[in-house]
Amino acid sequence: MKRRHMNNLGLKVLALGAAGILCASGANAQIRGSAHDFTNAGWSRNQICLPCHTPHNAMHVDINGYGTERLWNHSLPSEGQVYETQDGPMPRNDALDAYSILCMGCHDGTVALDSFGGVNGSQFIFGSELIGTDLTNDHPVGSSAVWNPIYEGTRYNPRSTWEGQTFGNSSMGRLRDMIVNGQVQPVISCATCHEPHRRGGHDDLLRISNTGSQMCLACHIK
Ligand code: HEC
Ligand code: HEC
Ligand code: HEC
Ligand code: HEC
Repeated sequence: MKRRHMNNLGLKVLALGAAGILCASGANAQIRGSAHDFTNAGWSRNQICLPCHTPHNAMHVDINGYGTERLWNHSLPSEGQVYETQDGPMPRNDALDAYSILCMGCHDGTVALDSFGGVNGSQFIFGSELIGTDLTNDHPVGSSAVWNPIYEGTRYNPRSTWEGQTFGNSSMGRLRDMIVNGQVQPVISCATCHEPHRRGGHDDLLRISNTGSQMCLACHIK
C-alpha cells in the first residue's frame, strides 16, 4: 500500500513535468520534488538539505571505527536501541552499518523527523515509510546481510558484476564495511539499494530501476 503526503505528490508531478521539458528520459531527476524534499513539510525550516546535512558543526558518525563523514545533521537512534534482526535482537551497532543508521534516524520511528541541528523535535514518520525497529520482515541489511564471496556464481552474481555498475541510466550501490563478529565485513546497506537524493530518478529512491525485478536480479541468481 502506498501512502504519500498530498503536497509531496503535487510537487512530484510538477517536478516530473519540468524534467520532461529539460530531458526526455528523466535521467537528471534530483531530490527536488522527491519524497526526500521536505521544503513544504512544516518541520524542515523550508530547507531541502538541512534536515540531513549541515555545512558547519556536523556530527562525526563513527560506528566502531567504520563511519561516514557526510556533514550529518540529523540525530541518530541511540546506541542502546535494539533491532529485531534475522539473527535475533541486537543493539544498534551490532545490527546495522553506519549508512543504515543514518536512514534509521528517521525511518525506525524512534527519533523525530525534526530532530536535527541539535534540536529535539516532535514530528515522527508514519505510514508505509515507517520501517520500525523490527527488521525481520524487511530485506536483510547490516550484520544479517554479510556478503559472502563463497556464494558468488551460485547464489549471487559476483560482486564485480553489479557493485557500482551501470544499468540503464544509473548505477547500482556499494556494499559498506562494518564489524560483524569482530571482523570487518562488507554488508548490504539501505544505501546499497537506495539513493537518498533520487539520482537516476527511479521510484522509491532506488539506485537503479527495479522494473522486471532488475535490481533484485543484479545480485540474486534466480
Ligand atoms: C533525507 C536525508 C537527505 C537529504 C534531505 C539530503 N541528503 Fe545528501 N546524503 C544523505 C545520505 C544518507 C548520504 C550518504 C549516502 C551514501 O553515502 O550512499 C548523503 C550523501 C551526500 C553527499 C555525498 C555523497 C553523494 O552521494 O554525493 C552529498 C554531496 C550530499 N549528500 C549532498 C546533499 C545536498 C546538497 C542536499 C540538499 C539538496 C542533500 N544531500 C539532501 C541524505 C540526505
Ligand atoms: C530526515 C529524515 C530522513 C532521513 C535521514 C531519511 N529519510 Fe527516507 N523519508 C523520510 C520521510 C519523512 C519520508 C516520507 C515522505 C513522504 O511521505 O512524502 C521518506 C521516504 C523515503 C522513501 C520512500 C520514497 C518514495 O518515493 O515513496 C524511501 C525509499 C526512503 N525514504 C529511504 C531512505 C533511505 C534509504 C535513507 C538513508 C539512506 C533515508 N530514507 C533517510 C525521512 C528521512
Ligand atoms: C535489497 C534492496 C533494498 C534494501 C537493502 C533496502 N530497500 Fe528499501 N526498498 C527496496 C525496494 C525494491 C523498494 C520498493 C518496493 C515497494 O514498492 O515497497 C523499497 C521501498 C522502501 C521504502 C518505501 C516503502 C513504501 O511502501 O512506500 C522505504 C521507506 C524504504 N524502502 C526504506 C529502506 C530502509 C530505511 C532500508 C534500510 C533499513 C532499506 N529500505 C533497505 C529495496 C531495498
Ligand atoms: C546488493 C545485492 C542484493 C540485492 C540488490 C538484493 N538482494 Fe536479496 N539478498 C542479498 C544477500 C547478500 C542476501 C543474504 C543475506 C544472508 O542471508 O546472509 C539476500 C537475502 C535475500 C532473501 C532471503 C531473506 C531471508 O530472510 O533469509 C530474499 C528473499 C531476498 N534477498 C530477496 C530479494 C529481493 C526480492 C530483491 C529485490 C527487491 C533483493 N533481494 C535484492 C543481496 C541482494
